[in-house]
Amino acid sequence: MSTPPRPDRPDDRPRRKVTLTTLGEMRALGEPIVMVTAYDHPSAKVAEAAAIDVVLVGDSAANNVLGYADTVPVTVDELLMLAAAVRRGLSTPLLVGDLPFGSYEASDEQAIATAHRFVKEAGCDAVKVEGSAERARAIVKAGVPVMGHVGLTPQTATALGGYRAQGRTAERARAVLDEALELQEAGCFAIVFEAIPADVTDVIMERTEVPIIGIGAGPSTDGQVLVLHDMLGIHGGFAPKFVKRYADVRGEMLRGLEAYAEEVRTRRFPGPEHTYGIAPEELERLKEQLGSRQRA
Ligand code: KIV
Repeated sequence: MSTPPRPDRPDDRPRRKVTLTTLGEMRALGEPIVMVTAYDHPSAKVAEAAAIDVVLVGDSAANNVLGYADTVPVTVDELLMLAAAVRRGLSTPLLVGDLPFGSYEASDEQAIATAHRFVKEAGCDAVKVEGSAERARAIVKAGVPVMGHVGLTPQTATALGGYRAQGRTAERARAVLDEALELQEAGCFAIVFEAIPADVTDVIMERTEVPIIGIGAGPSTDGQVLVLHDMLGIHGGFAPKFVKRYADVRGEMLRGLEAYAEEVRTRRFPGPEHTYGIAPEELERLKEQLGSRQRA
């Protein structure tokens, strides 16, 4: 069912609810799929207004909003709270919740139970797992759509030799291809390719059938995903090679906070326009009631 036109969207075409079928159709039509991460309600509303197709509550929330050094420590409960807030801000994009490290690897039962929580408690449409075709298959069989993730998988970055591009030898590229095919065969409706040489992506693309969403995987994928905090410059500091900065939100926030601090310190804020009034006669009555009692 399509939603009514919205004046705050870049165009006023009716926006359709994005489903798994929509993504398959987009791939078939060669229409690029746009995906971003979001971890809170205001960001979700902006993603909605910008007509984003897929929103991922990534485990990258760990380092982008929760202050952890990497994605490993974030818990299911932490991500569920963020995902529920994002859900309340979205109506048309497909919402995908990332299963955090340690919440799906131990057994099929564990993977299914965690995936069900993302759907039932946070309202996610689908979940994402890093690698692990066996668990993906179990979750799909249990009724939850799964997005796969190959190449650089941050939850196991240590085992991959750190945060570096994957598939840079023929053998490693073959391994990435095999993993993608296993995830596809397990029933994943789409797969994220992270940090893979563009030429390797081209070779894999010819052999896959489900939508492929790239992040640092070159231009030939069916869609692109970026982490919101990286692409909008919400935090300063290091950004991977594949990030393009489209805004300087941190700079804008800093400018605003410094201006506010300056105006408070120089008593230029609040001005009359930010101040409530009282009728002069009411003020007079108050003063009469208080009599000669003065402020010490
Ligand atoms: O958690 C995340 O942000 C991700 C994206 C990099 C796809 O998994």
